[in-house]
Amino acid sequence: VPLLDAALSLSEAPTAHDALDGILRALARTTPVDAVAVLLAAEDGALDVASQLGLTPASRGLRLQPPEHPRLSRALRAPGPIRFSDPREPDPYDGLLAGRAGPVDPIHACLAVPLYRRKKLVGVLTMDALDPRGLDGIRDDDVRIFAALAAAAAPAPAPAGGGRSRPDDRRMLGRSPAMARLDREIQLLAPLPTTVLVHGETGTGKELVARALHARSPRAAGPLVIVNCAALSAQLVESELFGHVKGAYTGATASRAGRFEAARGGTLVLDEVGELPLPAQAQLLRALQEGEIQRVGDDRTHRVEVRVIAVTNRDLWREVEEGRFRADLLHRLWVIPVHTPPLRDRAEDIPLLAAHFAAVFAAQIGGRAVRLHGEAVERLAGHAWPGNVRELDNAVRRAILRRMADAPAGGRLELRPDDFELEGSPRAASPPRRATASAETLADALARVRREAFEQAFAGAGGNAAEAARRLGVSRSFAYKEGLRLGLIEGKR
Ligand SMILES: Nc1ncnc2c1ncn2[C@@H]1O[C@H](COP(=O)(O)OP(=O)(O)OP(=O)(O)O)[C@@H](O)[C@H]1O
Ligand SMILES: [Mg+2]
Repeated sequence: VPLLDAALSLSEAPTAHDALDGILRALARTTPVDAVAVLLAAEDGALDVASQLGLTPASRGLRLQPPEHPRLSRALRAPGPIRFSDPREPDPYDGLLAGRAGPVDPIHACLAVPLYRRKKLVGVLTMDALDPRGLDGIRDDDVRIFAALAAAAAPAPAPAGGGRSRPDDRRMLGRSPAMARLDREIQLLAPLPTTVLVHGETGTGKELVARALHARSPRAAGPLVIVNCAALSAQLVESELFGHVKGAYTGATASRAGRFEAARGGTLVLDEVGELPLPAQAQLLRALQEGEIQRVGDDRTHRVEVRVIAVTNRDLWREVEEGRFRADLLHRLWVIPVHTPPLRDRAEDIPLLAAHFAAVFAAQIGGRAVRLHGEAVERLAGHAWPGNVRELDNAVRRAILRRMADAPAGGRLELRPDDFELEGSPRAASPPRRATASAETLADALARVRREAFEQAFAGAGGNAAEAARRLGVSRSFAYKEGLRLGLIEGKR
């Protein structure tokens, strides 16, 4: 009957992933396994966990490199199912079995079978049982049948140059409401031709968002050009972006296309757009508004055939107030802003991310199993992470290296709370604001007065930013921005 169920999910499941899930569930009913998984080969040869039962949530989105996992690379070359018996060979899922607090006993049953569709290798199916004899009951022929069904169910690999398996489209992990919302925004905005402004604190994944917007757009097959505006000198920035003609200035010995032209048919990402000097901002505005650019020293205009994504970790409204950023350009960019949330606002994602970074780094350093102690996870989840996801990644890597130094011999590493050196304070539960005994700092007092003034003005203005601005004697854009920041009004989309 499990076989029939597997066949039915192949023909009846609404999506390829549902079909794989159904096949694995049926397989798990034939024999007492602790984990089963289907790994699908990406174009670059990496294996992505596409469907699984019995692994921890950290395995979702996990990408394994076969050269780092001897069992997987042997399975990929095998003609049929292989059963692994050498306990010295690391199991690819060590540390990832769900419901296992302790280490995985190296002496457990493990088998893998390559998945072929129309003679093409598409992935691997794996089974693990903690009971060393746990897989004795399933015959190789049955494994082959389930493997054939899984291969048939596997989604077709994305065409070269586009789709999810592009190495550029690195996955954004997180299941918090904030991440779900960000994902929906990307889904919604990616197909549009419009300019998008991605803003958020350092290390929150702005570059990943920009890449995802490109990868999921109709321009995915075109070039993705990323320019770091902060890295360009004020003299060269215009020529870099827009190109120049021969003789435009000393040293311009030949004509040269700029990044706008290099990104033709694709996406141009202007990273750290807040660093653009004012003259270049004027040119950029013109490119966005009129859809044309001019090479430096050239009268002729070229049509802009790129989608622009601007990225910043600065508060551009403040930059406008201080005269460093053009208000008209910001208004133009602010039409579609995408905010990447700071990690402290989605602390529920921290365990998942930490486990993911541990698994990735462990694979990079030779597949040594790494596990996070529960108290370590708690400590990480309580930290404020001013450097956000990047800081978390680095903290996990450093902790692993530190543990390895203490335990250089092979075997599983367990990261404990003390292995993490976290700078700064833990995430404050709630700051003792206006506590009677302790005096308020000047900064806190100013922030409070400021908030109260905005709250009053917006309440008096019925939520209208223009009216609130008039009451406060500030510019409308400033009032609007502060209203958004303080949660007094909803952003319009
Ligand atoms: N949601 C996420 N899931 C997995 N990895 C993430 C996520 N967000 C960020 N990262 C990782 O964190 C690191 C920093 O991300 P990224 O470079 O996109 O940040 P950024 O916002 O551009 O930062 P900066 O402003 O400093 O340039 C990268 O290694 C990225 O892969
Ligand atoms: Mg960046």
